Amino acid sequence: MFELDHLGIAVPDLETALASWTTLGARLDHIEEVPEQHVRVAFLATGAVATELLEPTSEDSPISKFLASGKRGVHHVCYRVRELDQVLARLRDRGVPLIHDRPVAGSRGSRIAFIHPKGTGGVLIELVEVPAAMK
Ligand code: CO
Repeated sequence: MFELDHLGIAVPDLETALASWTTLGARLDHIEEVPEQHVRVAFLATGAVATELLEPTSEDSPISKFLASGKRGVHHVCYRVRELDQVLARLRDRGVPLIHDRPVAGSRGSRIAFIHPKGTGGVLIELVEVPAAMK
């Protein structure tokens, strides 16, 4: 049903994290600020599944809350879907708890929505619909 797109990893400081990951041998694809999500992200080219490092840019960021609770490391897994609106409608019909009822802006012009972890056994799942130009 879903195709794994990327793993999202919460980091307090993007440059420090990037230094660690590039030392491991990962290659930086791009850095971008996503104001709607209150994060600055770095995408690492790690094969078919990318690695996304997320640094909070404000106290309102979900990443700030994650880090403030003492958690580190993998924050979410992201699956690529077609027709995100239809997928969300289907999940809503099935009673799946959603953080976003409707798609919101993600990185690089994508549309994203998060499923609430209480509907997935504790895993925070992001769904992404990639712009046609990037498919
Ligand atoms: Co993500």
